[in-house]
Amino acid sequence: MFEDRTGTDALKFDGVSLRYGDSQHSVLPMWVADMDIPPPDNVGQSINAFLAGHYGYQMQDIAPAIVDWHGRRHQPVQDHEVVSCQSVIGGIKSVIEALTQPNDTIALFAPVYAPLIEVVRACHRTPVLIPFDVETGPGRGDLDGIPKNIAMLVLCNPQNPTGHVWPQNTLVALASLCQRLRIPMVCDEVHSAFVSPTVSFCSALQLAGDLRQTTIVLQSATKAYNLAHIPGASYAVIPKASWQQQVRRCIEQCHLYSGTLSNVSLMAAYSEQNDGWLKDVSLQIHSNRKQLEQGLAYSSLAPVNSEATFFCWLDLTALYPSQEQVARLLFADTGIAANDGASFGSPGWVRLNVATNPNNVTEALKRLQLLWQQI
Ligand SMILES: Cc1ncc(COP(=O)(O)O)c(C=O)c1O
Repeated sequence: MFEDRTGTDALKFDGVSLRYGDSQHSVLPMWVADMDIPPPDNVGQSINAFLAGHYGYQMQDIAPAIVDWHGRRHQPVQDHEVVSCQSVIGGIKSVIEALTQPNDTIALFAPVYAPLIEVVRACHRTPVLIPFDVETGPGRGDLDGIPKNIAMLVLCNPQNPTGHVWPQNTLVALASLCQRLRIPMVCDEVHSAFVSPTVSFCSALQLAGDLRQTTIVLQSATKAYNLAHIPGASYAVIPKASWQQQVRRCIEQCHLYSGTLSNVSLMAAYSEQNDGWLKDVSLQIHSNRKQLEQGLAYSSLAPVNSEATFFCWLDLTALYPSQEQVARLLFADTGIAANDGASFGSPGWVRLNVATNPNNVTEALKRLQLLWQQI
């Protein structure tokens, strides 16, 4: 299932020294949000077949594959609700520009994937970050921190970097609030394919009636099927007709819809024949996450209880009290390349990507244990 991608120009492998400097240890690449697992075979086959026989502008419709994929997950989507976009962040930019005004305030729960904050700033809107307790995970209590003057709420569900799944009752409460405020609840659900078998993920698409109408879901084939190199086609599902038209106009004006190769790859990836592949990958990631959690349970390094995503979120402040550049220090001390928590608003923490060979997780545990014994 897993590949060592050293020497293939893979950023996660070959970009380590540029970013992290040197280490006397061999490199364990556990940063960058992709997987060391090749995509399902039919994706490459479809792209090759497509390239061999098609030219010029194309009109492939990705909506039926998307409707079907979500349908198999009990997430109702209708063809006309699908709006194609080149990337998730690009799609969110179009949603913000279409549905809010410059200087508006947009709320997000933190720690969160930094580009979600940056895109708000890039649109000349003001992000308001609402902290949630990473040990207990997000809950209804966090709603109190939401200012009532916001023009949009952007939710990352499952949460990158902590791996929390937003509980259904909190999602309902958030959507009810957004409905009362008449603002969109924009949900980035790109990590929702990898959820622990014991946890149930509630998509905003599963909310009832009016609450569903107040939500916009961003989704993509990139994370689940490891297509960041294509990149995988992304799309928004926008139930409310007026918002949908405004966003579609914004995307179409600047030709920001997904490209044909992305569409071909999404249609291949989303076919039912790959459901077994996705399940196997998800179970392996879950097992890797648990291995890391249990392997560090003896120390304050134990990651927060991740329920989804291929990330583990670790507090390294006991190792590096200065909380500065901890990912670089960790790399120098162990060869483990992790994402620095500072970029998510949490200096002193790191995000480890466990979508890798379980042997790498075992090796990371060994090196972390040695480091722990030294303090
Ligand atoms: C939560 C989340 N949203 C969006 C993205 C990026 O998506 P895209 O490259 O399609 O903009 C990532 C990438 O890691 C992510 O983790």
